[in-house]
Amino acid sequence: MCGIVGYVGFRSVSELLLEGLHRLEYRGYDSAGIAVMADDGIVLRKRAGRVGELAALLDEQPVRGSIGIGHTRWATHGETTDENSHPHIGGNGEVAIVHNGVIENYISLRNQLQEMGYVFQSQTDTEVVAHLIAHHLSEQQKLNCDEPCMRTCLRAINLSLDQLKGTFGLCVLFRDCPETVIAARAGSPLVIGIGKDEYFLASDASPLIGYTKEVVYLADNEVVVLQPSGIQITHRTSGSVRPSIQTLDQVSSDIDLGDYPHYMLKEIFEQPQTVENALRGRLNEEEGTAVIGGLNLTPQQLRKVDRIVLTACGTSWHAALVGEYLLEEFARIPTEVEYASELRYRNPPMTEGTLVFSITQSGETADTLAAMRECKRKGHPTLSICNVVGSTIARESDGGIFLHAGPEIGVASTKAFTSQVTVLTLLALYLGRMRHLSYPAGKRIISQLRDMPAKIEEALQCHDRVKEVANKYADFDNFLYLGRLCNFPVALEGALKLKEISYIHAEGYPAAEMKHGPIALVDEQTPSVFVVPRSGIQPKVMSNMEEVKARKGPVIAIACQGDNAVAEIADDVIYVPDIEEYLQPLVCAIPLQLLSYHIALLRGCNVDRPRNLAKSVTVE
Ligand code: M6R
Repeated sequence: MCGIVGYVGFRSVSELLLEGLHRLEYRGYDSAGIAVMADDGIVLRKRAGRVGELAALLDEQPVRGSIGIGHTRWATHGETTDENSHPHIGGNGEVAIVHNGVIENYISLRNQLQEMGYVFQSQTDTEVVAHLIAHHLSEQQKLNCDEPCMRTCLRAINLSLDQLKGTFGLCVLFRDCPETVIAARAGSPLVIGIGKDEYFLASDASPLIGYTKEVVYLADNEVVVLQPSGIQITHRTSGSVRPSIQTLDQVSSDIDLGDYPHYMLKEIFEQPQTVENALRGRLNEEEGTAVIGGLNLTPQQLRKVDRIVLTACGTSWHAALVGEYLLEEFARIPTEVEYASELRYRNPPMTEGTLVFSITQSGETADTLAAMRECKRKGHPTLSICNVVGSTIARESDGGIFLHAGPEIGVASTKAFTSQVTVLTLLALYLGRMRHLSYPAGKRIISQLRDMPAKIEEALQCHDRVKEVANKYADFDNFLYLGRLCNFPVALEGALKLKEISYIHAEGYPAAEMKHGPIALVDEQTPSVFVVPRSGIQPKVMSNMEEVKARKGPVIAIACQGDNAVAEIADDVIYVPDIEEYLQPLVCAIPLQLLSYHIALLRGCNVDRPRNLAKSVTVE
């Protein structure tokens, strides 16, 4: 949520910041802006709207310099106007600041600053920080007029941070210290890129790709001073920090669109590969189990686990629901799925043997991080299933499993879902084989998992059929999504995909629950999408389809190849490969992702940048 980029060095900074903001735009796209250290002080360019609007402004009014900061905004405080866009100026142009996060005590700080004579131009919480830093800077300049400007700026930042309550990743430019950018983190991620005589800073590594492979992840309560001659990191309480340099393994092609019109479509079609990546090196054919290396728990400790809590948000929460089914089925371990936003404030009883998994694509979701920290504080082993290496949750968890799905840029999560489900299947197999699951059963699951990339490839062949179905239903304004057992979360996920990118109202339900209320919504104008592959429960779901048909509701079915019985009831069928029940979410999710994509396109929506959303929800 909100993207930050900063640079000190020798390159033309406007272009560099603009490129970085384009790459970070998935984090928020309400407005964009940059502040550049020019010959005559700090120069701002900012505008409401997409980064493209800022690019147009910079074409009309270019600005030169080699040190600067930039921001793409997901609005929290104040509407999406030019005034509320970042960067914000503090004092009379002494500082410029960009910020990600929420300052909870901004109202009282603003009142104090207004009493001191500071004049506010925006409704944002960020402008408070800008004036606060300017205020401390002018105080410190009076007290320490002989010390190097960088020291004074750093002191002003630290004094300001002491007064802030909330979360922030912020980055500041100083008029009187033109070679310097200072950044600080408390709850919102920042990564530093190390070059030769140049340093980069960003909310995530994407703007750094192609410029450097050496990165340092800033930890909470750390402050970094960046100058072309070097960086200096200090922890706010424990002092100087030796940077731990890590290698970035992403390459430019990971974040290029290639021949695809949208990231969402690219990511949908990457799924055979991303599922293969999630499986690579993790199948132990000989012992009929999974190889899971990063849990940092011994088999003896894992045997003692008597309960699992999976916590997540959004699509990751849906993957967790599939995980619950698999863990209980294969490993017979009681498993609960908790919304992270609820778990962080609840106090559910947890046994000593409870293992907590945070499931997250980005590794930065504020609620998931807070839930994980709360469980950690209580002494539970906290593990993660995460895509972004170097993210806060990946670093703070006691161990975990990476998805290796590559960057997911489309705001609507697609490939992360199937990778999460794949990893949860491996986890269930691994824990199951330590308990009740037999060797032949383990071997069978392994051989089916090995086939998954090919099955997903086959599922993608429904693309043309999905386009036809999308054409027929794109004008409907309400949808129901129904499925049972491990396909119930698939129904929820299908409904979420449709809602978030096409703004159509859609509800996901366990098919049998429909009779207890949602059936009242059924009429000629409300299509029901049934996830109804072959399974023991299929006849029951088909009865639910009949109930909808009896009330004149249009029925779209996701069914297995050659299932004529479903075709006889449904108005439209989209076929997927016929596979084992517990793996069906991996193929059934595909047509639903494509359906939402094509309906959104037909309705003229921006599928990669849906309104009101951002890729990572890093604020509460
Ligand atoms: O990065 P995370 O997996 O923690 O993100 C969780 C949700 O914010 C995310 O899945 C969101 O629901 C997606 N936009 C769904 O497509």
